[in-house]
Amino acid sequence: MHCDATASHYLKILLDAVFGPECYRNEITWKRTTTHNDSRTWSRVADTILFYTKGKEFRWNTPRDSYSAGYVESRYKGDDGDGRKYMLDNMTSPNPRPNMMYEWKGFPFPPLGWRYSKETMAKLDAGNRIWYPKLPDGSFDTGKRPRVKKYLTEMSGGVIGEVWTDISPVNSQATERLGYPTQKPLPLLERIIKASSNEGDTILDPFCGCGTAVHAAEKLNRNWIGIDITHLAISLIERRLRDAFSDVEFDVHGTPKDYEGARDLALRDKYQFQWWAVSLVDAVPFGGKKRGADSGIDGWRYMAAGRTTVAKCIVSVKGGETVNVQMMRDLRGVIEREKAEAGLLVTLTAPTRPMQEEASKAGFFDSPFGGKRHPRLQIMTIEALLSGAKPDLPPLSIEAGFRRAEREDRAVQNQGSLLAHAGLDAPIATAPARGGGRQRKP
Ligand SMILES: C[S@@+](CC[C@H](N)C(=O)[O-])C[C@H]1O[C@@H](n2cnc3c(N)ncnc32)[C@H](O)[C@@H]1O
Repeated sequence: MHCDATASHYLKILLDAVFGPECYRNEITWKRTTTHNDSRTWSRVADTILFYTKGKEFRWNTPRDSYSAGYVESRYKGDDGDGRKYMLDNMTSPNPRPNMMYEWKGFPFPPLGWRYSKETMAKLDAGNRIWYPKLPDGSFDTGKRPRVKKYLTEMSGGVIGEVWTDISPVNSQATERLGYPTQKPLPLLERIIKASSNEGDTILDPFCGCGTAVHAAEKLNRNWIGIDITHLAISLIERRLRDAFSDVEFDVHGTPKDYEGARDLALRDKYQFQWWAVSLVDAVPFGGKKRGADSGIDGWRYMAAGRTTVAKCIVSVKGGETVNVQMMRDLRGVIEREKAEAGLLVTLTAPTRPMQEEASKAGFFDSPFGGKRHPRLQIMTIEALLSGAKPDLPPLSIEAGFRRAEREDRAVQNQGSLLAHAGLDAPIATAPARGGGRQRKP
């Protein structure tokens, strides 16, 4: 959980409630900027990352830092001419160890003993891994202590602590910058993902924003699932991933909630958009969800026309940026060809005046239930449907349309949860599973 210092202490309490205080591991301070003159406060330079695990057992790959060039230069000065740099380290025991108290090559043991047993000492010596202090004549200076050689090539870097000062923010000039306000640097997410997962594991970012976590996961050969409430974020991630990885594979799921979302879906996948738009007017997609030539019909809306008969309305969906009167004429032709009672054009873009005139020319049909008349040709925009408008048509015939789910008997009422989380209709992007077979949907 990444946040700034204004929220981290409240969120920590919430996370304790969710995961349990025993699953709290670290509060990481990430220095994300240089100091600036904040008014009458210590300059705010850091964010907080709260690290919790689900239980006592968890994946942990000890994160290590590579040594900086300056550190190597100042510490690894030893050189025996074999191309390997080394530093000298203490050989004295930190605690009293009576069995390590022996004289070594004329050197008396330190007050607490040596760090190594006599056998290990002999092996180190045979491998030329002990440095002996010498007098000007070349003999051992037993008034000083021998030291052990530690070769740079054998060191795996320092363990990384909970204060991170080595990861810069995404600055305004960075090539990685996408323009998303809260974009995180890739190395930050890579460090977290590497520490807590292995290749083939699955990373979930339920607030994935511009997708730095999923990008890092893809890069590190993890499976991933990203969720965000905005289509903007999802389309940004799609582009980002396709730009970054030529062979990336993933699915996008989600239901538009507004014009922008609908437009995004129409651009992303014409057929998904049609099926979704058809469902908004309680119609059934033409020929199920099979793709292909549609002969001007995207869906059928089946309406009750008496006890046993149904009336049909043909639904045609237009997801483009422009609409024209020819579309209405075509739909009118399809109604006549199919002997349907009505036609409904669902458009993303507002209809033109000639389209509306064409609709009114088509006249009305009588309701099978008497009294009421309904327009034969209607146009509805996605925006109107999303704000609750309904087509002017007779009631649905349940038998001919989609079947309804059976009602469930619930013995115990579900208790509402305290913490709201992203609804499943937030768009979700998932990468196919890696390792153990290429499943399409994890
Ligand atoms: C700070 S950004 C996330 C950054 C991201 N985790 C990363 O590593 O780059 C927060 C995101 O949460 C999204 N969001 C807010 N409420 C949400 C909700 N209820 N469900 C899903 N996403 C939500 C926002 O649209 C925003 O893109």
